[in-house]
Amino acid sequence: MSKDYLPQFYVMLEKQVGIALDDTKQYLLESRLLPLATKNGYLDVYAFIKYLTQNAVGPTHWQAFEALTTNETFFFRDKHVFEALKNTIFPELIQARKNEKTLRIWSSACSAGQEVYSLAMMLREDFAQLHDWAIQLQATDISESILKKAKSGIYNSMEAHRGLDAHYLRKYFSHLEDDTYQISPAIRQMVNFSHHNLVGSWPFYPKFDLIMLRNVLIYFKQDAKDKVLSKIRKQLNGDSSILILGAAESIHSNDLYKLVQLDKISYYKPNILTKV
Ligand SMILES: C[S@@+](CC[C@H](N)C(=O)[O-])C[C@H]1O[C@@H](n2cnc3c(N)ncnc32)[C@H](O)[C@@H]1O
Repeated sequence: MSKDYLPQFYVMLEKQVGIALDDTKQYLLESRLLPLATKNGYLDVYAFIKYLTQNAVGPTHWQAFEALTTNETFFFRDKHVFEALKNTIFPELIQARKNEKTLRIWSSACSAGQEVYSLAMMLREDFAQLHDWAIQLQATDISESILKKAKSGIYNSMEAHRGLDAHYLRKYFSHLEDDTYQISPAIRQMVNFSHHNLVGSWPFYPKFDLIMLRNVLIYFKQDAKDKVLSKIRKQLNGDSSILILGAAESIHSNDLYKLVQLDKISYYKPNILTKV
């Protein structure tokens, strides 16, 4: 089957999801779409891609788009970031918000929830003084299936042991009969999961004190990155609020943000001199 429809498919994927693919990633396209192509009765991936490009975006398209996202994540990913949160960033945010006693945190592109649950466990474990604060943990992703897993809080043994200290595993998880681990209801209840496409329309969100936007912009082209970063800037709650990107991600020549270097990590604060 001809590969003529590939360029059209790349454009469609980028428009709907933000992810930029090209011919150098054909192996990924083939391996990720083959099961879905077969399930839908196509002889090969390229016949399936032709169907996708020739039809209006519907549920089958979204299954294909989801299959092309990368959900790699783990608990306390990039431990320097979590050390900085514990030792500096949270203490400073708590000081800045001590009158309102409110902290709003958004884990965007949260995948199966390990990132936001790591934050929730850390807040419980290390910040007992927040017991009478309103803590809002919002976690969003484009993939409905990964959100279902995140909400269940159930992880297989390998996922549960990846990045997680034995103490946390003992204290905040129950070991289920099928050798999976489920995070405790007390931690699950701290988090509100919902669907959100970073390149789609944005629902109304409050302003956040901390936004984690890690390991997703790496798949986007500069133009899409800039659009997302400009919308994210509007969601930050003033001068003390913070944006953390993934370890391999950075913001170049964007006057909406100020770079802050803290030991081994860097993060961003809104540049309040710039109008948004
Ligand atoms: C590699 S994971 C990152 C998970 C977590 N933030 C971390 O750093 O460990 C990337 C996530 O981005 C999500 N994603 C991809 N495109 C997205 C979009 N346009 N809007 C929202 N989420 C998206 C994927 O579904 C996936 O769960």
